[in-house]
Amino acid sequence: MKHTKIKDLLCCTKPLTDVTAKGWVRTFRNNQFIALNDGSCLNNIQCVVDFENTPEETLKRITTGAAVSVFGDLVESQGKGQKYEIQVKKIEILGDSDAEKFPMQPKKHSLEFLRANAHLRVRTNAFGAIMRVRSVLSYAVHKYFQDKGFVYVNTPVITGADAEGAGEMFQVTSLPLDNLPKNETGGIDYKQDFFGRHTNLTVSGQLEGETFAMALGQIYTFGPTFRAENSNTSRHLAEFWMIEPEVAFNDLDDNMDLAEDFIQYVIKYAMDNCAEDLQFLEQRLLEEEKSKPQAERSEMALLEKLKFVLENNFKRVSYTEAIDILKDSTPNKKKKFQFIIDEWGADLQSEHERFLVEKHFKCPVILYDYPANIKSFYMRLNEDQKTVRAMDILFPGIGEIVGGSQREERYDVLVQKMRVLGIDEEELWWYLDTRRFGTAVHSGFGLGFERLVLFVTGMTNIRDVIPFPRTPMNAEF
Ligand code: 4AD
Ligand code: MG
Repeated sequence: MKHTKIKDLLCCTKPLTDVTAKGWVRTFRNNQFIALNDGSCLNNIQCVVDFENTPEETLKRITTGAAVSVFGDLVESQGKGQKYEIQVKKIEILGDSDAEKFPMQPKKHSLEFLRANAHLRVRTNAFGAIMRVRSVLSYAVHKYFQDKGFVYVNTPVITGADAEGAGEMFQVTSLPLDNLPKNETGGIDYKQDFFGRHTNLTVSGQLEGETFAMALGQIYTFGPTFRAENSNTSRHLAEFWMIEPEVAFNDLDDNMDLAEDFIQYVIKYAMDNCAEDLQFLEQRLLEEEKSKPQAERSEMALLEKLKFVLENNFKRVSYTEAIDILKDSTPNKKKKFQFIIDEWGADLQSEHERFLVEKHFKCPVILYDYPANIKSFYMRLNEDQKTVRAMDILFPGIGEIVGGSQREERYDVLVQKMRVLGIDEEELWWYLDTRRFGTAVHSGFGLGFERLVLFVTGMTNIRDVIPFPRTPMNAEF
């Protein structure tokens, strides 16, 4: 039978007869009141069972976690807490759930416990809300770029390139690992591999994206990327989703403008379209922070923080200015930083980024013009010959959320840089072709989608904003 979504039932403006709802039982109290949830929204609908005329056998099967179909009338509720409820005329148990064994008990569970039950945690209020917000955010990403006429490009997941030149790749092979074929020099003979060459999972679609931008003008990618970096932190995943726009004729300032406008748009879109879920997540965060010392609590509640990002320009600061600020900072002088900043050229750690954003500027920060030797090979060299046109966007509580740059469009300069870094020109012949045939200024950036979801939902661990996280020593589900 056709059923109505609970979301639609809850926003009815008048009573209805003969409606059907289907969902999962959250709780069943007094042998009478079912709190039913179908995932269409945060709230449950109360279903009132006529227990005197319902077989005892059926009542016993209305347990937390069970899938049920209820048929009845939508009436104004007598009780507090809901405007409408369903007076049940018929109930059917679609799938039983052993209440003793069902892991999602109607009580508070730790996030660790929920992670271990990632296939069921989505049946909780918090994870339902997070995953709906995530879905709306990904729609907003597409909407933003599509409305602006960007072309969506699907770059390959399997590639021979190491786009970041950082060597943090998962290899892809169909060779037998227990009996690898050898070449004349005793190395592995990749000629016998599936693709006749060495391949890996992509760390970024940027290089392929650039070739498309140099034909279609404005493009974006939005797909999974993989990093075999052994970073067991609350900000790193081995498999994450990245959004990478690339625009021909944009310089670094245009790139910063695009990134800022884009981030503000998608946050606003989520606020406009996920109000209920975000209010719930704001309360969740307040609860969570109650157990923390005052100094570690956020200064703003979740929605206030999101609004702040919409209403304030991101502060643009050069790397050189940032280093001066950090050198003079109290935690640096008092040696409170794990990595002390003593000279220009130092790579910034997350503790430094967070100091700049959370303590010094107290707003999102765009750092630009980094030293060439701490950034990737493809970034455009500045006239000073020592910095590159790179930018990172740093967010409170998150650190780096975006990494991007103006690209080195000059063939000779790019080749020279690749030689210095030992990057194989032959491997990247196709990338170099963009600089040989009709090269032009162009820029782009990568936004880590989970870091955005982390920020918008107010969660604190990246493992809690992706359905099934992939991290070192963990690939369950
Ligand atoms: O700074 P990254 O490494 O930049 C690139 O990959 C460029 N090719 C992007 C471009 O210019 N088109 O990564 C970009 C963003 C980071 O700022 C961060 O938000 C996210 O991707 N990111 C991760 N997110 C989760 N887990 C990880 N291990 C991540 N590594 C990077
Ligand atoms: Mg980066």
